[in-house]
Amino acid sequence: MIDQYAVFGNPISHSKSPTIHRLFAEQLQQRLEYSAHLSDVDRFEQDIQHFFAQGGKGTNVTLPFKEMAWKMAERLSEAAQLAGAANTLWMQDNLLHADNTDGVGLVNDLLNNCGATLKGRHLVVLGAGGAVRGVIKPLLDSGCASIVIANRTFAKAKQLADIFSELAQPGVSVDACEFAALSPSPRVDIVINGTSASIQGDVPPVPEGVVSAHTLCYDMMYSNTQTAFCRWARSQGAERVFDGLGMLVEQAAESFSIWRGVKPDTAPVIELLRQSLSHQ
Ligand code: ATR
Repeated sequence: MIDQYAVFGNPISHSKSPTIHRLFAEQLQQRLEYSAHLSDVDRFEQDIQHFFAQGGKGTNVTLPFKEMAWKMAERLSEAAQLAGAANTLWMQDNLLHADNTDGVGLVNDLLNNCGATLKGRHLVVLGAGGAVRGVIKPLLDSGCASIVIANRTFAKAKQLADIFSELAQPGVSVDACEFAALSPSPRVDIVINGTSASIQGDVPPVPEGVVSAHTLCYDMMYSNTQTAFCRWARSQGAERVFDGLGMLVEQAAESFSIWRGVKPDTAPVIELLRQSLSHQ
């Protein structure tokens, strides 16, 4: 039987994961099948158990099941532990293992595809939900000088800042604030939008002046047209503006590498997806 992989989510029909993993498999001449499955909160655990009982090799998990996958896992990677959510599952020694590759996917996209430098840089991360929780530690590990987490609900930003400032290297700060308290000084090198505001076409109310020409702006969401955040960033004069399509492919490459032991070349896959998105 050909090795079976899958993604579980709800909704799932829009998922690009089957295409991405098919392209990786072709590139690396790996024989595998990757399918997309619609699940449901009442059924998710059973669906995962059934998939592995049938001999399935690994799954990705997307919204809204990442926390459920995390709870089901019998072994968590450090990244998954800290994220409180898992996007990659596999069986090893008869135990369900989980990792979260979203954060490393973001960092790899910034470094390898966006030409960003993270070492010594001052970052602002917008949002304090599940998506942001998954990326703070990998951003800290990349050597940045500071992270300010800004959120509509201050208490949630503060909670994350408290958790992650404990894990930061000496001299590296992780602070929390409301959007209105964001300020261009000290310098802001990179702004990452991890809110779900783009889904409704909204942009977090970041004060004028925080983003300028030299600020790299990154939206963890992507779309076939510019996201609302990317449009806003350009209107503020930012010259380097990226959406999260690269992050999607990079997190998939990390999952693929966990499962198959080989790491795909992401650039041609990002390029192909970008082309197909522009025709939608
Ligand atoms: P996800 O898993 O995508 O992170 P989430 O955990 O529900 O989803 O978190 C959504 C994040 O987007 C939160 O930080 C939320 O702010 P609150 O904590 O104040 O709810 C933020 N968010 C959602 N819609 C927003 C909007 N229109 N403007 C600003 N922030 C928004």
